[in-house]
Amino acid sequence: MMTLEELVSYAKRYGFVFAGSEIYGGLANAWDFGPLGALLTDNIKKAWFKKFIDESKYNVRLDTPIILNSKVWEASGHLQSFNDPKVDCKNCHNRERADKLVEKASKGTIDADGMKLEDIDKFIKENNVKCPVCGKSDWTQARTFSLMYKTNQGVVEDSSSTVYLRPETAQGIYIDFKNVQRAMRLKLPFGIGQAGKAFRNEITPGNFLFRVREFEQLELEFFLKPGDENYWFEYYKDFSFKFLTNLGIKEENLSLYDHPKEKLAFYSKGTTDIMFRYPWGFDELWGIASRTNYDLSKHMEFSGESLEYLDPETNEKYIPYVVEPSLGVGRLFLALILNSYENELLENGDTREILHLHPYLAPYKAVVLPLIKKVHSEKATEVFEMLSKEFNVSYDDTQAIGKRYRRSDAIGTPFAITIDDDTLANGTVTIRDRDTMKQDIVKVEDIKDYLRERVNF
Ligand code: GAP
Repeated sequence: MMTLEELVSYAKRYGFVFAGSEIYGGLANAWDFGPLGALLTDNIKKAWFKKFIDESKYNVRLDTPIILNSKVWEASGHLQSFNDPKVDCKNCHNRERADKLVEKASKGTIDADGMKLEDIDKFIKENNVKCPVCGKSDWTQARTFSLMYKTNQGVVEDSSSTVYLRPETAQGIYIDFKNVQRAMRLKLPFGIGQAGKAFRNEITPGNFLFRVREFEQLELEFFLKPGDENYWFEYYKDFSFKFLTNLGIKEENLSLYDHPKEKLAFYSKGTTDIMFRYPWGFDELWGIASRTNYDLSKHMEFSGESLEYLDPETNEKYIPYVVEPSLGVGRLFLALILNSYENELLENGDTREILHLHPYLAPYKAVVLPLIKKVHSEKATEVFEMLSKEFNVSYDDTQAIGKRYRRSDAIGTPFAITIDDDTLANGTVTIRDRDTMKQDIVKVEDIKDYLRERVNF
């Protein structure tokens, strides 16, 4: 597998990801999705909507704003407790997430998630934990640090105008539970999913797209009858895992981590993370949580509105329970490139970069290649225009054909369509497969069917 440095360089070289605000010296841990990255993230979201919403008879979508009434964050508990512990180096002013510092210093033998601030201070002192930047051991006391981004709305900047950028998309779904249920005449169980940006003022972002301050989430809140939560929790763990393997992620690159019962919030009935093997080891890709009726109950309490459900079968009224699979688009983006990239050694000793992405996810489904620019461009443009009405395809008439194949392999384009004299004479093209390099002869009028069949997910 690629190292993190190789990944960053690959992503920049081919237009997947650039450093954000680069010409101004960058903005720490902000990244731009380039032309191919924007297509890949779009395809990730399409795949998620297809499998989690459109192909489910239970689920619908929603799209709520980034800024919500600030009471939402009081009710959800984010304003009080969406914090991480931090320490500052008094010598060089480097700021570290204190729990992660402890975990690193203990070489992973201590799980410091939820560790008390005084225990963190004690550990740092007793073990003389050094600042990773300057090497001194002169830390401030551990303090909590809110991850919420604060801003003001309207013309007056006082506390009454304080609003927050959402740290998760889920709360927008909870507060619309009743609207969606009524408007869509839904009966339990049903799910509401949305894709959208979330913002967290992370103390130590890093590892490329893995931990950033602005990211996109794909969240499904699946509402169900209390008592059915274990069934649906297992269902969505399995469904999410299969979603990844069906997209080509190798099982050996995935694992499941069940959060220990004693570490769970009091309302939680279980949380399992699907972990991916990143260059620094297995780490969280996707969180699946069984959240009881905690969030809906809190919003009932703070808003005074009933979010209960009247069961038409039993005439009982209750607050639904929730199972929530929550995925970060950027983390899946990383996982897919790491999982799919290969630097293949060919028989003649050359190497060939290939991104074995599932065709459904590939930024371009095919590249159209006129063999000789002067002779075949007109027909190639015709083919490109026909295909681009239905698929994302690219057109390349730059270098020798071999080099053009190499580039399209490296960016994951599954099919290369060559337009040559046979196309002009017989109306056939050669379609080369990215992974096997095998070639098929296909009639121009059959190319769409050929692609449709192979791009499907
Ligand atoms: N609503 C539940 C929730 O937000 P979470 O475990 O905090 O749960 C869910 O986040 C997912 O969002 C994570 O599994 C990860 O994929 C992604 N995520 C969280 N924080 C992130 C960050 N700072 N940068 C990139 N992705 C992040």
